[in-house]
Amino acid sequence: MIADRPDRAILARFRKTKRSGPAISSSRVTCENWRVLTPQESESPDVAPSGGEVERVSREFTKLFHDLKAQTFATTTWLGVPLVKTPNDIVVFQQIIVETRPDLIVETGVYLGGSALLFATLMDSLGIDGKVIAIDIETGSVRDKVAAHPRIELIEGSSVDPTVVTRVRAEASKAQRVMVDLDSDHRAHHVLEELRTYSPLVTPGCYLVVEDGFLGGRPVRPDAIPGPSEALDAWFGEAPPFQSDRWHERYLLTQNPRGFLRRIGDGAAEPRPPRPASFVTARLELSGLDNGAVRAAVPAPEKALAALEAAAGETEGELDQLRRSMANMARAERNVRIDAELEGRRQEMTTEALLEELEIQRVLLAERSRLLARERARVARFTESKPYRVYRALRRIPGIGALMRWRDRHRLAEAKARAKNRAANRQVQSERFSEHHRGQ
Ligand SMILES: C[S@@+](CC[C@H](N)C(=O)[O-])C[C@H]1O[C@@H](n2cnc3c(N)ncnc32)[C@H](O)[C@@H]1O
Repeated sequence: MIADRPDRAILARFRKTKRSGPAISSSRVTCENWRVLTPQESESPDVAPSGGEVERVSREFTKLFHDLKAQTFATTTWLGVPLVKTPNDIVVFQQIIVETRPDLIVETGVYLGGSALLFATLMDSLGIDGKVIAIDIETGSVRDKVAAHPRIELIEGSSVDPTVVTRVRAEASKAQRVMVDLDSDHRAHHVLEELRTYSPLVTPGCYLVVEDGFLGGRPVRPDAIPGPSEALDAWFGEAPPFQSDRWHERYLLTQNPRGFLRRIGDGAAEPRPPRPASFVTARLELSGLDNGAVRAAVPAPEKALAALEAAAGETEGELDQLRRSMANMARAERNVRIDAELEGRRQEMTTEALLEELEIQRVLLAERSRLLARERARVARFTESKPYRVYRALRRIPGIGALMRWRDRHRLAEAKARAKNRAANRQVQSERFSEHHRGQ
């Protein structure tokens, strides 16, 4: 079950933000072995000509990419199956999997299944004898190709449902290297619960990816707050053994600012190939709160807090609504598929039936023509026969013709009289029969 109360850590963060204003220090997301560029560093000439400019351009481009979703997100596919990822992030996932070779990837939030297929086919190509566990509250819309992939195990249920978690833990205990991708319900309380549940499964050196930290005005959907970014803030406060690997944000367009988390400790290997000492990232997580223009669009902390508290009571309703709309989408998609299949079959059947009907008509026509020809021959034989010719010749002789016609009429009258007699006799017999059996 999804926690029906917002997490206290998130509420605390909001209360703090309310008191102390929006600024957050990027050092809070810095982990032991990896360095996040501070604003000063990123503005120094050897790192970037202008940190502010990098952020601005990246933010604008990310927003543009998001706002044009009909031509960006909605058309992105992996081997023909849609997935909700930027092309950059797809490449980053590929690089992470090549580097860390996980033999278990757990994905929460599957939708149509493109990302599960991405993970599974990468394992195929890399010769990794591994498995993808893909969890969604509604798996009806997952494409057949994905559901049928031998490496993919679909689990229907909430990612934080204890029975689901127990199944995943059992699989993780058998694996050598475990990676987790969190891409389900993006509300902060759910993401935080997922972080706490799934982060211990990730093995040292492997990745936990928290998707869509770009929500909540970083830089898209300022209304979608509190979301993954707030969950990350709260979770980082619990000092988890993970570093936010900003190297994977170097392409400057990502949905997941701060979201590529590498598990450290317990002899985790250094990233390979080694990263340069300095590089530029856009630090989009700051732009939501530090940038004046974006900040204006972010709801005031009090409002967000009130919404968060209100949402806590509505979780089940919202979940039901989500389930219903997902089920409707799945049904609509299935209907489209069935219609297309029926239409195809109808076309095939029409062509087949027409051909069959034509063949039947052809055979019937041939048979009729044959019978007609036989009948014509018979009539010809009869009319050409000697007795008939004599008969016709006799009928043409005036006296004899009249006699023959009189004889024909007479025969006809006799036949009619005989038929009438037979009918009268039948009537008499039937009445006698009834009389005889009356009262019995
Ligand atoms: C953003 S989509 C996933 C996109 C997919 N990972 C991709 O990259 O193509 C979010 C999915 O999360 C699912 N979801 C929502 N709440 C969930 C929950 N509590 N547990 C598991 N899945 C959930 C939704 O049904 C939806 O399919």
